[in-house]
Amino acid sequence: MAVQDFLVSKADLGATRLRETPHAGLGEGEARFGVEKFALTANNITYAAFGEAMNYWGFYPAEDGWGRIPVWGFASVIESRCPGIAVDDRYYGFLPMSNEVVLRPQRLTSARFVDGAGHRAALHEVYNSYSRCSADPFHDARTEDAEAILRPLFTTSWLIDDFMADNAFFGATGHGTGLVMLSSASSKTAYATAYHLARRPGIEVVGLTSPANLEFCRRLGCYHRVATYDSLDEFDANTACLYIDFAGNAALRRAIHTRFTNLRYSSSIGGTHVDQLGGARDLPGPRPVLFFAPAQIKKRSAEWGPDAFQQRLLSAWREFVATALDSAAPWLVIEHYIGPEAVASAYAAVLSGHDDPRRGRMLSLAAGPA
Ligand SMILES: NC(=O)c1ccc[n+]([C@@H]2O[C@H](COP(=O)([O-])OP(=O)(O)OC[C@H]3O[C@@H](n4cnc5c(N)ncnc54)[C@H](OP(=O)(O)O)[C@@H]3O)[C@@H](O)[C@H]2O)c1
Repeated sequence: MAVQDFLVSKADLGATRLRETPHAGLGEGEARFGVEKFALTANNITYAAFGEAMNYWGFYPAEDGWGRIPVWGFASVIESRCPGIAVDDRYYGFLPMSNEVVLRPQRLTSARFVDGAGHRAALHEVYNSYSRCSADPFHDARTEDAEAILRPLFTTSWLIDDFMADNAFFGATGHGTGLVMLSSASSKTAYATAYHLARRPGIEVVGLTSPANLEFCRRLGCYHRVATYDSLDEFDANTACLYIDFAGNAALRRAIHTRFTNLRYSSSIGGTHVDQLGGARDLPGPRPVLFFAPAQIKKRSAEWGPDAFQQRLLSAWREFVATALDSAAPWLVIEHYIGPEAVASAYAAVLSGHDDPRRGRMLSLAAGPA
């Protein structure tokens, strides 16, 4: 089969096409990976929305005007001209929406490698690093779809919770109970954040969401309170509070900054409301700060030691996956979409935002079963 790449118009994320090209020969030091399956959530749409500004288009370049959205998933080696990379070795990492990809593995250990392709050199290492499944303590074949969907989201959520606690909730907990408000509360990253925050004393964790997702957020049980975006007046305007913004909705951010006179910190995490993004000029209250997960990883790795950091993250991860998949009340129900048409329709559904938040979509352009 030819190489298949799912391309998205950079100017209109709703316009897509499948590009088919013949296989290119491998250069010395390269390996060809079959992309078996990958997750698609609003996080990937945000990569596309910020493709230029944050260089997400730079990972897997395409021809003029078109982009290849990076996704998290699994790939196996199908051909190798790289010593130390063997056929059938399986890896987890940042992949294109394609059926295969050629990488240039460097800095190999038994557990991981870094793609040394020249065009990726300036991009952050967290995205250039691939973990070998058989040596990865986070990997469990029984729950690997949940791993593709949740792992990058969970890691960020765990770090957000740690960052807020590390900063004593910016003083919001000192005088009675402080509010911590999360937008796009039905998103996986937000509810994973709330899952951790809800255990912290002295704060009330509030999920803000759209009317269609209010009941889902209530049922999760990890928010102390949930409310729709137009119900901010239910909350005392003088209460000490924080805003953790997954929606990126400019009007909502302005409404929160205007109403809450004791807003202690405003953290920008995401942009799920892709049609309502906007700048923060002349905003009342604190300047929104972009959350940068690698900075908190670096800080905690230095303070706790890299092994202790990994151990804490790992045990939190295992507990969270079990909760999310708990058959009694699953937060995540995994669905598979195989082949170009199914991939295109899953992409359109995720882009639209009118999706059941329980869904976790696993996609594949590979020929065999995913
Ligand atoms: N900075 C970081 O390091 C980092 C890391 C991970 C994730 N994130 C960000 O966190 C956000 C959540 O990602 P996720 O993958 O967890 O999302 P997800 O689970 O796929 O989120 C789905 C929810 O997002 C909202 N939504 C999605 N598309 C929408 C649209 N077109 N219009 C309006 N609302 C829409 C809806 O929530 P509501 O109805 O509740 O609004 C929907 O239920 C993303 O923006 C992602 O980039 C950032």
